[in-house]
Amino acid sequence: MQGDCAACHTAPGGQAFAGGYGLQTPFGTINSTNITPDRETGIGNWTERDFFRAVRHGKRQDGALLYPAMPYNAYVQMSDSDVHDLWAYMRSLAPVHQPAQPNTLGFPYNIRLAMLGWNLLFFKNQGYVPVVAQSAQWNRGRYLVEGAGHCAACHTPKNALGGDTGAYLQGADLLGGHAPEITNDHHLGLGSWSAEQIQSYLKVGSNDKAVAAGAMGEAVEHSTQHLNDADLADIALYLKSLQGSGTQAPAALSAKAPLMQRGAQVYENNCMACHNVHGEGINGMVPAFADNPGMRATGGANLISAVLKGGRAAATEGNITAAGMPSFDWKLNDDDIAAVLTYVRNSWGNAAPGITAAQVAKARTAQPLAAE
Ligand code: HEC
Ligand code: HEC
Ligand code: HEC
Repeated sequence: MQGDCAACHTAPGGQAFAGGYGLQTPFGTINSTNITPDRETGIGNWTERDFFRAVRHGKRQDGALLYPAMPYNAYVQMSDSDVHDLWAYMRSLAPVHQPAQPNTLGFPYNIRLAMLGWNLLFFKNQGYVPVVAQSAQWNRGRYLVEGAGHCAACHTPKNALGGDTGAYLQGADLLGGHAPEITNDHHLGLGSWSAEQIQSYLKVGSNDKAVAAGAMGEAVEHSTQHLNDADLADIALYLKSLQGSGTQAPAALSAKAPLMQRGAQVYENNCMACHNVHGEGINGMVPAFADNPGMRATGGANLISAVLKGGRAAATEGNITAAGMPSFDWKLNDDDIAAVLTYVRNSWGNAAPGITAAQVAKARTAQPLAAE
């Protein structure tokens, strides 16, 4: 797999791999660089060795340290032959002339040398070490998840300095969104998903319950849809083997509570046409709310963002339709949005803390996670 390079190294509407995509981090905006073979503004005069050092060890050609927004801490696990294939592929691209954009990082993050400390703390400079007690399939799945897939970059919560915490793949807030838990945890993770449902989600961007959009839509479009079935099966096998957070489901709010009744009303008037009478969605196009762990995700930031800004499902070779979710920020007030989301988080088999009007108000002014 191409390790999702295009997702970050392509600006919205820009030329593939020519950089200029701004990654919003809690420390400021970091712009990706031009990695086409242009000699002046890209990596045209790099050697394969320079490329290996950048991708796996986070060093620029001049030896300066790259910011970990470039996920070398995941790619360090990629095998020599996979990085070699990637290099051959990158060399085959047409050069694009496009100089890098400046970053807008605050002190001390604007000093590249500060990354030395970060690397000491959080960067394990080591290739993939197989777990002998596990099968070849399981190890292949883990290799893809931890290396080229860099799934932890979004799905593992970060500490105050942006390093991974120990809550591996247990769900993390991204700016303006949330990447849900993807372990086998039953309440918040993929416990209720079959291996086939996971494979389908990664291959075509949807299954009978969920539809990938936003940052995950990009990961599917640029990266996971290109994996072969055996690799996808191995990823599913690996994710299903992870025990996860062991989160206990709370009791669902009563359908008679005033907030729930208001939510039901808003739902009927605005959402039912697409998400369906019992929250069952439309297979492969509109996500279900019924028994969908994504709906119960901690904080619900994704859900708020989907309703405010709308969104677009991933368009893949296997599912070219890419259905759209309309934006409701002009149509529904904070109380309505809080009510309808509280309602879907506590109906049809779901149970999760409600969403407050204050959370919605805050999200209206938040920075977007990815240019959509
Ligand atoms: C999550 C976003 C993200 C992904 C995914 C990503 N990169 Fe990067 N990459 C960046 C950012 C941001 C920078 C610039 C970092 C800096 O300025 O310190 C960068 C820098 C680089 C550089 C250094 C370029 C230079 O001029 O110094 C190379 C080479 C590179 N990336 C290659 C890749 C390859 C190959 C892949 C896929 C295997 C990839 N990147 C995937 C964000 C990303
Ligand atoms: C750039 C950030 C990012 C990366 C990288 C990423 N994800 Fe995601 N993922 C997300 C977000 C955000 C969502 C929620 C998407 C939505 O609700 O439409 C998500 C959702 C998912 C879901 C659906 C979970 C649910 O309960 O609905 C699965 C499964 C998943 N990701 C697996 C993966 C795997 C496997 C990888 C690595 C190959 C990966 N993701 C890499 C951000 C990311
Ligand atoms: C015109 C059809 C349509 C209508 C009307 C609609 N939606 Fe959606 N919705 C979609 C589609 C398609 C998606 C998948 C794409 C995406 O996530 O952006 C989606 C996604 C979502 C998501 C994100 C799911 C996830 O997995 O993260 C939420 C939350 C949501 N809708 C809530 C609502 C609510 C609440 C309403 C009513 C106020 C509503 N939708 C009305 C079509 C619709």
